Amino acid sequence: MEPHPNLLSLDDLTDGQLEHMFELAERLQADPTLGRDALAGITVGLLFFRGSLRTRSSFEAAVAQLGGHPINLTAHTDFWELEYREGRVMDGRAPEHVRDAARVLSSYVDLLAVRPAPEQRKWAVDRADQQIGAWAKFANVPVVNMESGLWHPLQALADLFTLRRALGRQTSGSSGPRRRICLAWTHSPTPAPVSAAHSLLVAACRAGYEVRLAHPPGFDLDEQVVAQARAAAGASGGELVHATDLHDGIDGVDVVYARSWESLETYGDPTLSASRRAKAGDWRIDERLMARGNDARLMHAMPVRRNVEVTDEVIDGPRSLLFEQAANRLPCQKALLLDLLGRGA
Ligand code: CP
Repeated sequence: MEPHPNLLSLDDLTDGQLEHMFELAERLQADPTLGRDALAGITVGLLFFRGSLRTRSSFEAAVAQLGGHPINLTAHTDFWELEYREGRVMDGRAPEHVRDAARVLSSYVDLLAVRPAPEQRKWAVDRADQQIGAWAKFANVPVVNMESGLWHPLQALADLFTLRRALGRQTSGSSGPRRRICLAWTHSPTPAPVSAAHSLLVAACRAGYEVRLAHPPGFDLDEQVVAQARAAAGASGGELVHATDLHDGIDGVDVVYARSWESLETYGDPTLSASRRAKAGDWRIDERLMARGNDARLMHAMPVRRNVEVTDEVIDGPRSLLFEQAANRLPCQKALLLDLLGRGA
C-alpha cells in the first residue's frame, strides 16, 4: 500500500509541488468558484487542542467552498482527553488513546488536520512534535499539521505565496537584485510559539531570499532549525544573516516579517521568560523603523498586539500586507487540500 501523504512541515512538499500549489492558489484566488465541487463526498476532520481564528476558519471555509464537509472538534469540550504514551496502563485522567481515536476518525474522514497543544515545559520535549507525529503514525488518512511546537506549515505556505506576490518570484538564476526579508522579533507580554518563525525562516531561505534574523539576546531560534535554514539558503542561492538589532536588521530590506516568539532558553519558566522579555520592551515596529527599509512592506502571521508589537500606523498604513497575508491562507489551503487528496480544480 502506498503511504498516504502528510503535511507535517513544508519539507513534506517538493519544490515542484509547491510551485504547482502556488499556481493553483492564484487561480483559486482569482476565481473563488473554481473547484467548488472538487471535494464532493469528502469529509475533513479538524481537531483543535488550542485556540485559532485564522487557521480554523480558513481551513473550514476551504473545505466547504470546495464542496466537502468539515467536522470541527475542540479538545476539552468536544472529545475525550487523550493518552499519547504507548504501553501505559490507562488508569489516569485520559480515557482514550490517540491510536484508537486516530483509527476511529480515519474511518469517518478522508483527511485529518490537527493543531496540537505542546506541553510548554521543556523545549527538548516539545521540539520532538510527538503529538502530531502520533496522529500521523496512527491515522490511515493524510494528516495536516495546523501548528505544532516546531512548525506551522500552513502559515508558511501563505507567507511564501504573499512574498511571491509582493516581491515577485525569487529564482537562483534571476537577474534582478536578491530580495531581502528581515524576520524581526517583537516584544509581547504573551509571545507566540516559535513555530511560525521556524517555518518562515526555512521556507524563505529555501526560496532563495536573503533573510536577516533579528532578535534580542536569549531569543535564538532552535539550533537545528537555523542549521536547516542555512543549508536551504546554501542550496537555493539565498543567504541567512544574523542582525544585532532592529535597525541593523531592517536597513535596506524589502519585507519586515514581525513576530514575537518565546525564549527557548527560558522555555517553561514563565517568571524568567517575562523578565527576559521585559529587557526588550522597545522591540516594536513603527514607521521610523520601516522607513529604513527599501520601500519595505510589513508581514505578520497574526494575531498581532497593536502598539506593542507593531504600531497602528504601520498595521493600517500602505506598507501593511497583514490582511492580504491572512486572506491568502484560504486559496493556499484549498490548493493544498486538492493536492493531498489528489483532486483537480
Ligand atoms: N496565524 C495563525 O495561525 O492564526 P490563528 O492562530 O488564529 O489560527
